[in-house]
Amino acid sequence: MRKIIFDTDPGIDDAYAIITAMKHPDIKVLGICTVAGNKGIEFTTTNAQKLIKLMNYDCQVYKGAKDSLLKVADDAGATHGIDGLGGVPLVYDKSSLSSISAVDYILNTVKENPNEIEIIAIGPVTNIALAIRKDKETMKKIKAIYTMGGGVYRGNITPVAEFNYWYDAQATKEMFELGVDVPIHMIGLDITHKSIVTNNDLEFMKMTGGELGQLLYDMILPYVEAYWKFSKYTGCVIHDLLCMIYAIDQTVCPKEAIYHSHLEVSTTGITIGQTVVDIVDSWKQPKNVYVPLKVDENKYKELFFKIVFGEEVAEMYRKYVLS
Ligand code: BDR
Ligand code: CA
Repeated sequence: MRKIIFDTDPGIDDAYAIITAMKHPDIKVLGICTVAGNKGIEFTTTNAQKLIKLMNYDCQVYKGAKDSLLKVADDAGATHGIDGLGGVPLVYDKSSLSSISAVDYILNTVKENPNEIEIIAIGPVTNIALAIRKDKETMKKIKAIYTMGGGVYRGNITPVAEFNYWYDAQATKEMFELGVDVPIHMIGLDITHKSIVTNNDLEFMKMTGGELGQLLYDMILPYVEAYWKFSKYTGCVIHDLLCMIYAIDQTVCPKEAIYHSHLEVSTTGITIGQTVVDIVDSWKQPKNVYVPLKVDENKYKELFFKIVFGEEVAEMYRKYVLS
């Protein structure tokens, strides 16, 4: 059983990723650490609690940083709806919030399970940087980090920067310093934008996915609207879900297009949050990141349907949507 900790700012695409992990038979989500990003920390924390209740899952939420190390913004505006989960009515139990902080939870859990914990970091990485500052030796005993953020050739919040890394560029820089000791996989915009979930895919989910399919459909509507408004996509890019699916099955990205490289992060000026990835190894610097640059988008979506809704739904997806 793989032992996973989420570090997240739910967030509609975060919710898709978390639900997918909770549905996977070989994954145990040990805990969900929250961070400010898509919304403020109170929203992201209660949203994580709501997902636990929705899925009737046995784990707790650990509240994390309310401000990034280099504060550039409060949140992601209306992209994720008024509350961060598209305004769908969900409830939560107060008891699912632990009194332990995100940083202490990460450190304690890694100490108790050396070289076994995988972190799925799908928000700004403030908590991870703070945990490294507090106890780097323990953080070196993380098995792997899968982080959604950055991009080799593009940004989304600025021409060169992606939202999570831009929101806390300093923390991002500090996280990647750990990348020489711990495998860090960066799922960046280059591949998330190659895996658009179409409106047809979403209609299929609503039609075949029962109550959960309907809820995930309702939840994602403001996000889809934002993609039309800002990018003129019909459909959307569920960034964090791709990060989770890659963590589950790396073959969703062809091996020959996964670059083990040196990465630097800009922390100032107009390039703040930009990831500079030396995929051609011009600098000859120690490699601190794995960056996939190609993705099999059909396989990605098929895996999502299989894990969350079962083989029968995945089969229908192949037969009626993909072919
Ligand atoms: C990332 O930013 C957030 O809005 C999403 O949840 C995702 O983690 C995409 O840039
Ligand atoms: Ca996120």
